[in-house]
Amino acid sequence: MTAVRYLLAQNEHPYPPLPSVRAAIAEATGDLHRYPDFRPVRFAGIIADWQGVPAEQVVVGHGSAGVALDLFHTVVGPGDNVVHSAPCFDAYPLFCEIAGAESRAVPLGPDARHDLAAMAGQLDERTRIVVLCNPHNPTGTVYSWAELTAFFRQVPATAVILLDEAYIDFAQGWAAPSVPERIAERPNLVVLRTLSKSHGVAALRIGYALADPALAQRVRDHQVPYAVNRLQEAGLRAVVSAEAAAELETRIATIAGERDRLRAELLGLGWPVAPSLTNFLWVTAPGEHGPLRAELERLGVAVRYYPGQGIRIAVGEKDANDAVLEGFTQAGPPAPASR
Ligand SMILES: Cc1ncc(COP(=O)(O)O)c(C=O)c1O
Repeated sequence: MTAVRYLLAQNEHPYPPLPSVRAAIAEATGDLHRYPDFRPVRFAGIIADWQGVPAEQVVVGHGSAGVALDLFHTVVGPGDNVVHSAPCFDAYPLFCEIAGAESRAVPLGPDARHDLAAMAGQLDERTRIVVLCNPHNPTGTVYSWAELTAFFRQVPATAVILLDEAYIDFAQGWAAPSVPERIAERPNLVVLRTLSKSHGVAALRIGYALADPALAQRVRDHQVPYAVNRLQEAGLRAVVSAEAAAELETRIATIAGERDRLRAELLGLGWPVAPSLTNFLWVTAPGEHGPLRAELERLGVAVRYYPGQGIRIAVGEKDANDAVLEGFTQAGPPAPASR
């Protein structure tokens, strides 16, 4: 492959961190000889104030993936099972393996959304977690809150519903009750969020879960001490400041605009692209990816290929998206099987 010019394979934010975030982190390096908090109480407090939730409902950790793994360690053991979609975020099958649990991977439905009926059919008394990414990775699709709650009613109270909202800030117009209201109604619901996507600080590894206080405490009891470091804390304060919020809103709107343009153009070229409320697109492509891949690689565009299923493309800046379009144009329309 030609050197990668446009890295669109990991659903990252295309813009570098805001200058205020960099400055805050640079300043915090002066204290690197000091430990952070033994338990990240202050850090969780910042998240709680920012999100308007009680601190007792907040669990923080090494990115949202780290918090999810802490949850697996807390509630899943050998012989248990975890129900999730396939394909989904790569970490979940891995976490099943780590926990010694059976991974019950349910293929997505034909509309590139979770097959909720089939997932419900996989739940039993040994199910400890059912994972729902909403929006979903790798497809960008969503369910409405009414659809989700209809599914939740079928989940036994002995299973945790892990609602992974890593991309929720890109889902403008998607509506649901506040997280404390959702948790009050369902103590087995855990909402997972991250600053890696819409807030653009993936390398800082800041993620959190919001959960019923008793469950949140159980997860915290399974966490390593000093789990969150001083650079993360300085970065978090800067990212959630009012000053950064306005700038991030503008960036999110720009990414969403580019996403919609890219999707419209790909549809125009004859490719089936799922409606996305994220910062990436899913091109359904069950056939060969060879010629298209060769074109994209020639242009230095790295995207994520799911052999026999599809292609996931993170939305980049305009020139990166134009390079994607150039690759698809050069490769020609999809083989009939992909349409
Ligand atoms: C659905 C989903 N959840 C969680 C994550 C992990 O994010 P973090 O960087 O917070 O660990 C990702 C990352 O790609 C993701 O796609």
